[in-house]
Amino acid sequence: MSPGIHILVSVMYICFIFEPADAADGPPQQFLLSCGNLKGGVDADGRKWEDDTKFLVKADKSGEAKADMQDPSLPSEIPFMSARIFNAETSYKFDINGSNRHFLRLYFYPSSYPNVNISNSYFGVNVGETTLLNNFSAALTATALSQAYIVKEYALAPSDLNDLTVTFKPSDKYSGSFAFVNGIEVIETPEMFDDETGMVGFAGDSGVTVEATTASMETMFRLNVGGQYIPPTNDSAGLMRSWYDDTAYLFGASSGVTNAANTTIDAGNGTAPLAVYSTARTMGPDPNVNKNYNLTWVFQVDANFTYLLRFHFCDYLDEKVNQRVFEIFINNQTALDTMDIIGLAGSANSPMKKDFAILVKDNKGDNEIWVALHPNVSVKPEFFDAMLNGLEIFKLGDSKKNLAGPNPQISDLMQKQIDHNTKGFASKRSYTTAIIGGAAGGAAAFGIAAALLVVINNRKRRYPGQDSVSSWLPLYGQTHTSSSKSASGRSHGSTHISSDAACNCRYFSLAEIKQATKHFDESHVIGVGGFGKVYRGVVDGKMKVAIKRSNPSSEQGVNEFQTEIEMLSKLRHRHLVSLIGYCEEDNEMALVYDYMGKGTLREHLYKNNKVTLTWKQRLEICIGAARGLHYLHTGAQYTIIHRDVKTTNILLDDKWVAKVSDFGLSKTGPNMNQGHVSTVVKGSFGYLDPEYFRRQQLTEKSDVYSFGVVLFEVLCARPALNPNLPKEQVSLADYAMYCLRKGTLEDMVDPQLKGKISQECFKKYTDTAGKCLADHGTDRPSMGDVLWNLEFVLQLESNVENPKPASTKGSMDLDNGGPRDQSSIMAMHRNTLSLGSEDNDGDGSEVFSQIVNQKGR
Ligand SMILES: *[C@@H]1O[C@H](CO)[C@@H](O)[C@H](O)[C@H]1NC(C)=O
Ligand SMILES: *[C@@H]1O[C@H](CO)[C@@H](O)[C@H](O)[C@H]1NC(C)=O
Ligand SMILES: *[C@@H]1O[C@H](CO)[C@@H](O)[C@H](O)[C@H]1NC(C)=O
Ligand SMILES: *[C@@H]1O[C@H](CO)[C@@H](O)[C@H](O)[C@H]1NC(C)=O
Ligand SMILES: *[C@@H]1O[C@H](CO)[C@@H](O)[C@H](O)[C@H]1NC(C)=O
Ligand SMILES: *[C@@H]1O[C@H](CO)[C@@H](O)[C@H](O)[C@H]1NC(C)=O
Ligand SMILES: *[C@@H]1O[C@H](CO)[C@@H](O)[C@H](O)[C@H]1NC(C)=O
Ligand SMILES: *[C@@H]1O[C@H](CO)[C@@H](O)[C@H](O)[C@H]1NC(C)=O
Ligand SMILES: *[C@@H]1O[C@H](CO)[C@@H](O)[C@H](O)[C@H]1NC(C)=O
Ligand SMILES: *[C@@H]1O[C@H](CO)[C@@H](O)[C@H](O)[C@H]1NC(C)=O
Repeated sequence: MSPGIHILVSVMYICFIFEPADAADGPPQQFLLSCGNLKGGVDADGRKWEDDTKFLVKADKSGEAKADMQDPSLPSEIPFMSARIFNAETSYKFDINGSNRHFLRLYFYPSSYPNVNISNSYFGVNVGETTLLNNFSAALTATALSQAYIVKEYALAPSDLNDLTVTFKPSDKYSGSFAFVNGIEVIETPEMFDDETGMVGFAGDSGVTVEATTASMETMFRLNVGGQYIPPTNDSAGLMRSWYDDTAYLFGASSGVTNAANTTIDAGNGTAPLAVYSTARTMGPDPNVNKNYNLTWVFQVDANFTYLLRFHFCDYLDEKVNQRVFEIFINNQTALDTMDIIGLAGSANSPMKKDFAILVKDNKGDNEIWVALHPNVSVKPEFFDAMLNGLEIFKLGDSKKNLAGPNPQISDLMQKQIDHNTKGFASKRSYTTAIIGGAAGGAAAFGIAAALLVVINNRKRRYPGQDSVSSWLPLYGQTHTSSSKSASGRSHGSTHISSDAACNCRYFSLAEIKQATKHFDESHVIGVGGFGKVYRGVVDGKMKVAIKRSNPSSEQGVNEFQTEIEMLSKLRHRHLVSLIGYCEEDNEMALVYDYMGKGTLREHLYKNNKVTLTWKQRLEICIGAARGLHYLHTGAQYTIIHRDVKTTNILLDDKWVAKVSDFGLSKTGPNMNQGHVSTVVKGSFGYLDPEYFRRQQLTEKSDVYSFGVVLFEVLCARPALNPNLPKEQVSLADYAMYCLRKGTLEDMVDPQLKGKISQECFKKYTDTAGKCLADHGTDRPSMGDVLWNLEFVLQLESNVENPKPASTKGSMDLDNGGPRDQSSIMAMHRNTLSLGSEDNDGDGSEVFSQIVNQKGR
């Protein structure tokens, strides 16, 4: 085997149009092992996994184990639910053709297994002389990334050996340590790298290059930029790679726009599937805006490694050279100053790739890769715009053939939550956090793209003087379901709703569903999502419902369907859209919801100004939504993070009662949301918590942030992002904070509300909204506090309309307010009754700079 990387002094940046992949005769050689599962089985994608025993070498100190519980985010039982546990060094051996490159994928599900404590598992994994993992704790890694499972992918360099030996070695630093693995995948690939890849930062004729063909690598990120999650079964050349949505890595408020090709692209020569080339992210329609910002992605990586970045391009928007020319920056250094896709690819609609290598040092604790695109204005292209279709980032082995980095840090917030939970919670379930959601495979591999984060939470929040759990808590939430849930099978093609969930909601026959929707008549369609179409219908002769019908061909749909039923059947609240029932018959799956007669909050703010909501109505709607979110955060058995709070996910019923919908489980609820619809669940730009970018971890405070944006949106009646406005105003969150500090916020208020809000109300409301947008989650109020403050504003408002001496010191007399429901009383019993008002007069340039430099946030 040749050494990891050669640094050669030679030609600088080289650009290759893709050479044809090895004319593959038949599918590439592959092995799929379901470890510790003597029967093998088929996963949700229909791939067959075999028993691992015949590949084991000297396995006397290993054993099979079955996971105690099945996390709802697992894409399928195989290979995750069974594991092989190693108490001593043990290897797997595969017969391969060593002259080719191979992908090795390791699947880990750090759940609880009988007779072992997963927190004690620290181990290393080697292939030959290459160290893949060292002192690896799958449990810590999963917790830090808020994932239930982890998939590690390596691209192993060719060697002279005709066997591939993967060795697991429990750490000798910890007593009782063991290694484990749930699945192993080995798949042969054509050589996809080049002899010479230019190192960024060594410009000029003396360019430094990296020899990638002899390097083993770990895949860190693989993104279908501007597009959707592409499952392994849809990958090209049978390589079974997953391509993730890029939104979670976008930096700053200016996230560009996504688009899709409407022309034919010949992806024959590409290294990525057609779906990657036929979608892209560009900067946007306004050249003046584009001139002033960088389209930027930020990635967390391990320091002290060299990374190879592969950019996939295909320009289907332009026709000739010099229409779109841009610069590529990697970690603030120019990687290429004139990227003209058509110029380099030779024609429009032609896929091409471009590789760069970069060394990430450990100067000041730096462990990020920044990728930024900016139009090169000086060459006067026709459009000031940039474009990217796909991006892969690989970590290269260092001089000691090591690829292992440290375990990720668990953030303080996460740690606090864990400590809190493990103290008071008597469940057997390990504290590993889990992501629930339609994200299925989409969420969990290399990065984070969490959908709905569920943290085991101490069941009862303590409110002073509140002993008994009052009636607003869920009807069903108190049952312990950890074991019954895991029992339900999730095998390919058939759904099994746990009995627990099934008895909480009604079963509809297919005939009833068909009758309700006039045989799924197109005129009844009110929305379309990744899951399928949403129909309006009538059941039981008069009850109006919204029916979400699953697209039978969508495998992901099956998972979303199950998760949604499991979750929603346990969540009942006046301010959450409720699931009435479901149907599963003849390969048809449908979910039946309450029909929301007045549609989304957004459409009553500015979409079509049919009715203008009064200030009081707006407050009541915000309070309702806040109550729904407060319930999600504290009321259910789990802390549920909605993750996609926005005005299109706040629905209004016939009586204008606000209900939170779309709990991250699928992109569209009963009402179609705007623009790009994706099957991969993700947050929405303009609402996303900036801390999430920095720490890559979600907490309920991310919802609080998004809700703060909603509060400003309601006040100002403008979208969270409006690219048509001057740059500093594009992001509502940034601009509102700027105006709040400057004291000019009143100028932004919806003209319809001018003069209709009392000073006191205005101050309290905007203070509350401003607090929600605090940089750090810890500085933001809880949803309960927000709720309390909004109620206080409403109270002030009523006092204005209906004068009565009011105390205005931020503390409020509870008996002042007339009849209230239980939930608001509970909210008021919180310790922190007021948010206080912290003077924060940062100067404006800092805020403006956030668009350009989000690091400041
Ligand atoms: C191994 O693969 C190479 C091409 O990559 C091929 O030339 C060679 O014949 C293969 N060897 C065997 C034993 O199949
Ligand atoms: C597992 O080990 C961790 C750390 O060693 C310990 O804190 C925890 O209590 C153990 N859990 C069980 C169930 O024994
Ligand atoms: C995967 O490929 C199938 C068949 O080409 C297609 O119908 C499906 O939409 C694809 N799925 C995704 C998520 O791209
Ligand atoms: C593709 O879209 C562009 C812009 O929307 C339009 O002008 C063009 O006619 C479309 N081409 C085809 C083949 O539909
Ligand atoms: C693919 O590569 C072959 C050989 O290099 C070339 O002849 C062909 O034109 C390429 N196809 C495309 C679409 O670029
Ligand atoms: C990177 O290397 C430097 C110097 O060898 C070392 O001090 C530092 O701890 C390393 N950082 C990491 C994250 O391993
Ligand atoms: C790139 O520049 C920005 C703004 O100056 C800075 O915040 C960021 O840390 C830099 N990134 C790297 C990797 O140096
Ligand atoms: C874009 O990024 C580069 C490299 O960090 C920086 O020099 C440049 O000033 C940025 N441009 C804008 C408009 O932010
Ligand atoms: C734009 O491209 C030209 C030509 O390669 C180059 O000289 C110039 O430095 C680039 N502009 C910037 C701002 O990098
Ligand atoms: C192993 O990982 C743990 C958790 O990240 C860390 O605390 C410990 O120092 C590491 N041990 C060694 C020997 O590197």
